[in-house]
Amino acid sequence: MAPKNELFAAAKKAMAASRSPYSKLKVGAALRAKDGKIYPGCNIEAASFGLTVCAERVAVFSALASGASKFVEIAIVSSAEEPITPCGACRQVLWELCGDMKVSVYNRKGKRRSFRLSQLLPYPFEKF
Ligand code: THU
Repeated sequence: MAPKNELFAAAKKAMAASRSPYSKLKVGAALRAKDGKIYPGCNIEAASFGLTVCAERVAVFSALASGASKFVEIAIVSSAEEPITPCGACRQVLWELCGDMKVSVYNRKGKRRSFRLSQLLPYPFEKF
Protein backbone atom coordinates (compact mmCIF):
# COMPACT_ATOMS: atom_id res chain seq x y z
CA MET A 1 0.00 0.00 0.00
CA ALA A 2 1.37 3.41 -0.95
CA PRO A 3 2.06 5.89 1.84
CA LYS A 4 -1.00 8.08 2.44
CA ASN A 5 0.35 11.41 1.26
CA GLU A 6 2.70 10.13 -1.44
CA LEU A 7 0.71 11.69 -4.25
CA PHE A 8 0.45 15.05 -2.46
CA ALA A 9 4.20 14.97 -1.81
CA ALA A 10 4.87 14.30 -5.50
CA ALA A 11 2.56 17.15 -6.54
CA LYS A 12 4.30 19.49 -4.12
CA LYS A 13 7.68 18.52 -5.47
CA ALA A 14 6.44 19.17 -9.01
CA MET A 15 5.09 22.55 -7.90
CA ALA A 16 8.62 23.59 -7.02
CA ALA A 17 9.47 23.30 -10.75
CA SER A 18 6.62 25.63 -11.78
CA ARG A 19 7.52 28.30 -14.34
CA SER A 20 5.00 31.00 -13.50
CA PRO A 21 6.70 34.42 -13.68
CA TYR A 22 3.55 36.11 -15.01
CA SER A 23 0.72 34.84 -12.82
CA LYS A 24 2.96 34.00 -9.84
CA LEU A 25 0.64 31.05 -9.17
CA LYS A 26 2.66 27.88 -8.76
CA VAL A 27 0.77 24.68 -9.54
CA GLY A 28 1.92 21.07 -9.24
CA ALA A 29 0.15 17.89 -10.24
CA ALA A 30 0.87 14.21 -9.73
CA LEU A 31 -0.97 11.58 -11.70
CA ARG A 32 -1.06 8.00 -10.42
CA ALA A 33 -1.23 5.26 -13.03
CA LYS A 34 -2.98 1.96 -12.37
CA ASP A 35 0.36 0.22 -11.84
CA GLY A 36 1.19 2.69 -9.05
CA LYS A 37 3.67 4.83 -10.96
CA ILE A 38 3.43 8.58 -10.44
CA TYR A 39 3.82 11.16 -13.20
CA PRO A 40 4.45 14.80 -12.18
CA GLY A 41 3.54 18.03 -13.93
CA CYS A 42 3.78 21.74 -13.21
CA ASN A 43 2.39 24.82 -14.92
CA ILE A 44 4.66 26.31 -17.54
CA GLU A 45 3.95 29.85 -18.68
CA ALA A 46 5.02 31.58 -21.89
CA ALA A 47 5.42 35.30 -22.54
CA SER A 48 2.69 34.84 -25.12
CA PHE A 49 0.28 34.04 -22.29
CA GLY A 50 -2.13 31.86 -24.27
CA LEU A 51 0.63 29.32 -24.82
CA THR A 52 0.81 28.53 -21.12
CA VAL A 53 0.15 24.91 -20.19
CA CYS A 54 -1.45 23.88 -16.89
CA ALA A 55 0.18 21.43 -14.51
CA GLU A 56 -2.54 18.83 -15.05
CA ARG A 57 -2.03 18.65 -18.80
CA VAL A 58 1.75 18.55 -18.44
CA ALA A 59 1.32 15.56 -16.11
CA VAL A 60 -1.05 13.61 -18.33
CA PHE A 61 0.84 14.30 -21.56
CA SER A 62 4.11 13.29 -19.91
CA ALA A 63 2.51 10.11 -18.54
CA LEU A 64 1.20 9.13 -21.96
CA ALA A 65 4.56 9.89 -23.53
CA SER A 66 6.13 7.53 -20.99
CA GLY A 67 3.79 4.73 -22.05
CA ALA A 68 1.23 4.84 -19.22
CA SER A 69 -2.41 4.53 -20.26
CA LYS A 70 -4.64 3.84 -17.24
CA PHE A 71 -4.93 6.24 -14.34
CA VAL A 72 -6.58 6.18 -10.94
CA GLU A 73 -6.00 9.55 -9.28
CA ILE A 74 -4.56 13.02 -9.74
CA ALA A 75 -3.38 15.28 -6.93
CA ILE A 76 -3.20 19.01 -7.60
CA VAL A 77 -1.56 21.55 -5.30
CA SER A 78 -0.95 25.25 -5.72
CA SER A 79 0.61 28.15 -3.89
CA ALA A 80 -2.86 29.64 -3.29
CA GLU A 81 -4.49 29.86 0.14
CA GLU A 82 -7.36 27.58 -0.83
CA PRO A 83 -7.25 24.40 -2.93
CA ILE A 84 -7.81 25.14 -6.63
CA THR A 85 -9.81 22.87 -8.94
CA PRO A 86 -8.69 22.18 -12.53
CA CYS A 87 -9.67 24.62 -15.28
CA GLY A 88 -12.36 23.61 -17.76
CA ALA A 89 -9.89 22.74 -20.51
CA CYS A 90 -7.98 20.39 -18.19
CA ARG A 91 -11.21 18.76 -16.99
CA GLN A 92 -12.06 17.88 -20.58
CA VAL A 93 -8.57 16.58 -21.36
CA LEU A 94 -8.43 14.54 -18.13
CA TRP A 95 -11.86 13.08 -18.90
CA GLU A 96 -10.84 12.00 -22.37
CA LEU A 97 -7.44 10.62 -21.42
CA CYS A 98 -7.93 9.36 -17.86
CA GLY A 99 -11.66 8.71 -17.42
CA ASP A 100 -13.62 9.13 -14.22
CA MET A 101 -10.71 9.11 -11.77
CA LYS A 102 -10.39 10.63 -8.32
CA VAL A 103 -9.29 14.27 -8.23
CA SER A 104 -7.73 15.48 -4.97
CA VAL A 105 -6.99 19.19 -4.69
CA TYR A 106 -4.82 20.69 -1.97
CA ASN A 107 -3.69 24.04 -0.76
CA ARG A 108 0.01 24.45 -0.06
CA LYS A 109 -0.43 23.35 3.54
CA GLY A 110 -2.14 20.09 2.58
CA LYS A 111 -5.78 21.03 3.15
CA ARG A 112 -7.65 18.67 0.82
CA ARG A 113 -10.90 18.34 -1.09
CA SER A 114 -11.65 15.26 -3.18
CA PHE A 115 -13.97 14.75 -6.14
CA ARG A 116 -14.66 12.32 -8.93
CA LEU A 117 -13.88 13.91 -12.27
CA SER A 118 -17.52 13.33 -13.29
CA GLN A 119 -18.56 15.69 -10.47
CA LEU A 120 -16.29 18.42 -11.82
CA LEU A 121 -17.31 17.88 -15.45
CA PRO A 122 -20.89 16.56 -15.45
CA TYR A 123 -21.65 16.96 -19.18
CA PRO A 124 -18.35 16.37 -21.00
CA PHE A 125 -17.89 16.48 -24.72
CA GLU A 126 -17.62 12.77 -25.55
CA LYS A 127 -15.39 11.04 -28.07
CA PHE A 128 -17.22 10.42 -31.31
N1 THU B 1 -3.15 26.67 -13.81
C1 THU B 1 -2.85 25.33 -13.67
O1 THU B 1 -1.69 24.92 -13.83
N2 THU B 1 -3.85 24.49 -13.39
C2 THU B 1 -5.15 24.85 -13.17
O2 THU B 1 -5.99 24.00 -12.94
C3 THU B 1 -5.52 26.26 -13.23
C4 THU B 1 -4.47 27.20 -13.67
C5 THU B 1 -2.05 27.60 -14.08
C6 THU B 1 -2.07 28.25 -15.44
C7 THU B 1 -1.32 29.53 -15.16
O3 THU B 1 0.07 29.26 -15.25
C8 THU B 1 -1.64 29.86 -13.73
O4 THU B 1 -2.11 28.66 -13.14
C9 THU B 1 -2.67 30.95 -13.56
O5 THU B 1 -3.79 30.71 -14.30
